[in-house]
Amino acid sequence: MADLVSGRVVARTLNPSAPMVQRNVPRKVALDVACGTGQSSRLFGKYFEEVIGCDVSGTQITEAQNTEKIPNITYKVAPADKLPTERESVSLVTVFQAIHWFDQQQFFQEAERVLVPGGCLCVCGYAAPLLSYKDKSEKLTDIVNTLVLRNRYRDIHLPYEEHERDDSLSIKLDLCVDDIIRYTSSKSFFSNYMRQYQDGTSILEDLRKSLMAELAPENIGADEKVIHAEFPLFILLTRKPK
Ligand SMILES: C[S@@+](CC[C@H](N)C(=O)[O-])C[C@H]1O[C@@H](n2cnc3c(N)ncnc32)[C@H](O)[C@@H]1O
Repeated sequence: MADLVSGRVVARTLNPSAPMVQRNVPRKVALDVACGTGQSSRLFGKYFEEVIGCDVSGTQITEAQNTEKIPNITYKVAPADKLPTERESVSLVTVFQAIHWFDQQQFFQEAERVLVPGGCLCVCGYAAPLLSYKDKSEKLTDIVNTLVLRNRYRDIHLPYEEHERDDSLSIKLDLCVDDIIRYTSSKSFFSNYMRQYQDGTSILEDLRKSLMAELAPENIGADEKVIHAEFPLFILLTRKPK
């Protein structure tokens, strides 16, 4: 699935026959902004001579460096408004599941500085999961989605005239109730809630109870991966003019 995402992005942006390209842009350097622990950067390793992942958090960068070592991928501490690359040196700038944290105008100015003419910017995110289990799909999805509200980046105005949006991909997984609780507790909205109200464990317990109550008639355990989850992906692509 991961390859499908990076393959789609590369195919739509930097291939000679791609709709976003007038002339082939060499696949030399890709810059993955707000790379976290590098899982988005690693998607592009096989398509570029060099991939640079950067993130404002030193802790995330250390974890990325200690995860899987791939020779053509390096990681640097840098914020989105001060990218760690030279002017007109990058063919593809990506940002996965992070642009909502930035000052977007400053980030777009930096992307403009580092992109080669004809280079592409890709903004990607994924929405809260659609859950399905027998006739309980709508109810299970409603329970989880009360906590996660996203507009799927429909309010983001990309900086260049040539742009497109792709909503056709999704990540599909089989999950148990415990997985859904772990997923929820790892999300930033949950950390924010914890910072504000401290007692975040009670919303996790409530969530768990609601999901278990819905599955109770079926006698399903919290560790049984019977719930099918689909995380809709949205990919926004745009190209700097030549
Ligand atoms: C949800 S993680 C996404 C990580 C990675 N792109 C992925 O898809 O797995 C969001 C990341 O954005 C980073 N971040 C937030 N604000 C940032 C900023 N202004 N500049 C650079 N990174 C930032 C955080 O440190 C965090 O690692």
